[in-house]
Amino acid sequence: MSAETIAERRPFVFDSPDGFGIVSRALHWGMAALFAWQFTSAALRALAPDSAARTFFWAYHVDIGATIFVLAIARGLWGLLNAPHRPAEGDSTFERIAAQFGQLALHALMIVVPLLAILRSIGNDRAFTVWGVELVAAGGEKNAALVAAGNAAHGLLGWALALLIAGHIVMALFHHLVRRDATLARMLGGPR
Ligand code: HEM
Ligand code: HEM
Repeated sequence: MSAETIAERRPFVFDSPDGFGIVSRALHWGMAALFAWQFTSAALRALAPDSAARTFFWAYHVDIGATIFVLAIARGLWGLLNAPHRPAEGDSTFERIAAQFGQLALHALMIVVPLLAILRSIGNDRAFTVWGVELVAAGGEKNAALVAAGNAAHGLLGWALALLIAGHIVMALFHHLVRRDATLARMLGGPR
């Protein structure tokens, strides 16, 4: 059976033109919660470096960031598989292109931002540990280019992603509150 036929028969699991399935919704809202933690930890690091809140939230920045990286790859693959039967975006060609470009940029940054930090961690001579599991031991050879790329771009692109997400949320609320269409309902409640 082709992937398309399976998707047509399982609109609760897969995405359909009427709404997002349970997998896309779980990834979307679960990862939104992880991003909320991630940007809280980053903002506290920048604005209140000596606070107890910063110590608490920053303690999991690497673990949650690495988790987002793995989920973002899975979500990208799931998105590609479901692309032919996802809900249509926008009323005009311009809106459709803008929405697709925005979502593509969100997907790309969800992978690139943590990837740059992970490569930096692998490229320095310290241990790289995620959720207590040592993935790279300390004392390896230092790769100055990987460290420099992470230093130059991880924080900067991280804040660019935060801005993009803020715009994305404003657009979702605009659809719901001003246009009063089903855009938000399709991501909240799934197919109807
Ligand atoms: C999508 C996931 C991630 C997001 C959105 C994110 C976001 C950010 C942001 C916005 C900053 C800048 C904070 C500041 O201005 O002080 C930052 C810093 C940092 N992040 Fe992440 N991060 C993510 C994943 C990771 C991962 C996986 C690691 C480690 C492997 C990591 C390690 C660091 C470190 C060490 C810093 C401080 C140095 C720097 O600014 O580059 N982050 N992160
Ligand atoms: C309160 C927070 C959020 C709201 C209200 C919201 C709302 C929505 C809505 C309504 C859609 C469906 C759009 C459509 O049908 O074309 C959507 C899709 C999407 N959202 Fe969000 N969103 C939020 C947070 C986030 C965050 C933190 C990210 C992370 C980067 C994100 C990334 C995406 C992506 C990539 C899509 C396309 C579908 C997919 O690949 O999962 N959203 N969002």
